[in-house]
Order: sequence, then structure tokens, then C-alpha cells
Amino acid sequence: MAKSEFFHEININLPTHEYKIHIGKACLSNVDLLNGYLAGTQVLIVTNTTVAPLYLLEIQRAFSSIQCDVVVLPDGEVYKNQHSLNQIFDTLITHHHHRDTTLFALGGGVIGDITGFAASTYHRGVRFIQLPTTLLAQVDASVGGKTAINHPLGKNMIGSFYQPHAVIMDVNTLQSLPEREFRAGLAEIIKYGLLESRAFFKRVHDDLQQNLLSNPPLLADLVAHCCEIKAKIVQEDERELGKRALLNLGHTFAHALEAYTKYERWLHGEAVGIGLYCAALLSQRMGYLSEIDLHSLDKLLQLAQLPRRIPKDINLDKLMQLMFHDKKILQNKLRFVLLRAPGDCFVESKVSHEELHQSLISAQEGE
Ligand SMILES: NC(=O)c1ccc[n+]([C@@H]2O[C@H](COP(=O)([O-])OP(=O)(O)OC[C@H]3O[C@@H](n4cnc5c(N)ncnc54)[C@H](O)[C@@H]3O)[C@@H](O)[C@H]2O)c1
Repeated sequence: MAKSEFFHEININLPTHEYKIHIGKACLSNVDLLNGYLAGTQVLIVTNTTVAPLYLLEIQRAFSSIQCDVVVLPDGEVYKNQHSLNQIFDTLITHHHHRDTTLFALGGGVIGDITGFAASTYHRGVRFIQLPTTLLAQVDASVGGKTAINHPLGKNMIGSFYQPHAVIMDVNTLQSLPEREFRAGLAEIIKYGLLESRAFFKRVHDDLQQNLLSNPPLLADLVAHCCEIKAKIVQEDERELGKRALLNLGHTFAHALEAYTKYERWLHGEAVGIGLYCAALLSQRMGYLSEIDLHSLDKLLQLAQLPRRIPKDINLDKLMQLMFHDKKILQNKLRFVLLRAPGDCFVESKVSHEELHQSLISAQEGE
């Protein structure tokens, strides 16, 4: 078995809860680390049919001397639902898991969100540990304590704010991730570049020119920096009453594009790629962002091989209607995160319909 190596440890300090994010390689098989986080002597690992054959066994081994149950869900966003949640509860109840059980979420954001939600409600809240295995889950979904399932009438409509007890990330798991999923995760990293600073934006550009997967310390460094950026924002505004809204940069566009195409055309990160370009274009049209910065973002998205333009077949009026259904609407005003420069983002609620429409036209393929 490969020896665990840890590159980073990040502390998250929230008013009511503190926890660590461990980032390393081969660390999912670290018996001492995993056992150190147990609340008692019962464990439930939640994973899916794709991830289980890859990593489940090494985690089960760590718990060979205690009660360790497993729920293997079917793979896919469509299974982030009430039925899967009940499967988790059924297993917990039929195997007599007590209040001091510990849930492990082994997989991408879907598994993390549903396991976190189960943990937040079983016995009014039990301990859970995130073991994120996608790039998107490592830099985004596993950090910050948002948990949810989907409802047939809307994505992430039922959920809670519930922080994990720890997050353990093994960058080696990204080796088995399909390339398209890896690139989708890069969109969120580019978003952090825009949120953080011109220097980090440039560093993301430099790192993406390397083969990140063949350089675990470099990849771990990049992941760690993104987690730190998200952690800093979440620490200031855990419940998204203010600053946390900045994390939605590009997402009002992305959510509308995903809903328009019934979540079938793009991975979330791919829709975020287009969304980031749209947000930057709108910022530039409104006189906040320079042409040069818009162009640099476009080049970076291209380097990450992400989609950047709204396809021609998308009807922009219908897309705008969907944007007005976004659950981030406050007092009937659509709020956009806009940019003055990398590292200088802000929430703007005074975007006119006309300005938005013209930006979408400019962001469409062939314009
Ligand atoms: N809670 C939050 O703050 C937050 C933030 C962003 C996204 N999300 C949620 O996260 C979900 C998207 O997460 P995601 O992009 O990780 O998608 P996902 O969980 O569907 O994983 C993507 C695919 O990769 C597979 N996979 C996972 N790890 C693998 C590995 N190491 N090797 C091979 N295949 C692997 C999965 O089985 C799946 O097919 C959405 O439901 C979204 O709502 C939550």
C-alpha cells in the first residue's frame, strides 16, 4: 500500500465549529487519520457505483475492527433525491446506528451533498467526514457546509447548512477522474482566480500550462489555495447573508443554461465556464472591466478547454426568463456578481434588462 503524504492542512474556524481540511496523496488509506475522527464505533460509508470499485475497499480496511456499513448509490445527479436519502436512513436504522455514528461521504459533490444532508438530520445531527474524489468537490462542494438533495421541481431545493467534522482530500483520486470532469473542476478554480487577486489569476494560468495530474504537490497546492479562498469567505459569512454571494460569480448564467438544457448538455463546471465569460462580458459592457482582462479570461477558459460561448440554438429571451427564476433573487431583483478586475468582484443589483440582453447577444457563438 502506498505511503500517505500530506501536503497541506487548512483550519476552518466558524463561530460554532472548527475543522480541518487535509490535502495529500494516498491518504484515504491512512488508518490513524480516519480512525481519529470517529465519534464512536459505528461507521457508514456512502458512495456510488463508480467510485466504490476504485476506493471503497481501502477505506473499509481502516474500519475492519468496528461496525462498518456501506450504501452504494447509483451514479448521477438524478439520484441526489429523496429516494437515495431514504436508502441512507434505512441502512442507518436497520443497522441500529446510534447518535455517535460517523458518516463518510466518498465521492463527488453529489455524494457529499446527500451524505451531509443525511448526517444533518439523522438523530438531529451526527458526525460526517467528506472524502471528495472529484476536482469540483475538492475545491468547492466539500468546503463550506452546504448540503442538499434535489426536488423534482428544483435543484438543491431541500438542504441545510451543516459543516463536516473533517475533509480529507487525496489528489491521487483525481487520476481516475474522466478528463471532462477534471476540466469542469478547473472552471471553479478559474472562478477563484477572478475572486482572489491578479497574482492568483496569473498563477492559475501558469499552473494550467503544466500537466497538473503528473505533479501531485503542485495540484495539491492549487487545490489548497482554492480551499483557503473559499474558507475565508465562508468564515466571514457562513449562511450567505452577504459576502458568500461572491462565490456565485458566473453562476446565475450557468444555472439558467443548465436549466434550459435540462442538465443534460453540460457538466456544471462547463456551464460555469460560459457563465464566467458572460459575467465578465457584462462587466466590461457596463464599463467596469477592461477589454484586456476580458480577453485574458477568455484565453484562460480556452486553455482549460472549457466552453465559453452561448450556443446559437439557445433562445436568449427564454434564457433570461430562467435567470429570473434563480433562487438567489432578492426582493425581485436579479443580482449579478460583476468584476472590476481579477481580485475585485462585487454584487450589482442594477443591471437593466437591455444591458443583460445585449451582453447575452455578444456572448453568443458567432458574435
Ligand atoms: N455543497 C456545495 O457547496 C456544492 C458546491 C458545488 C457543487 N455542489 C454539488 O455537487 C454536485 C456536482 O459535483 P461533482 O462535479 O463532483 O459531480 P459528481 O458527484 O456527479 O461526480 C462526477 C462524476 O465523477 C465520478 N467520480 C467521482 N470521483 C471519481 C474518481 N475519483 N474517479 C472516477 N470517477 C469519479 C462520479 O461517479 C460521477 O460520475 C452537484 O450536485 C452540485 O449541486 C455542491
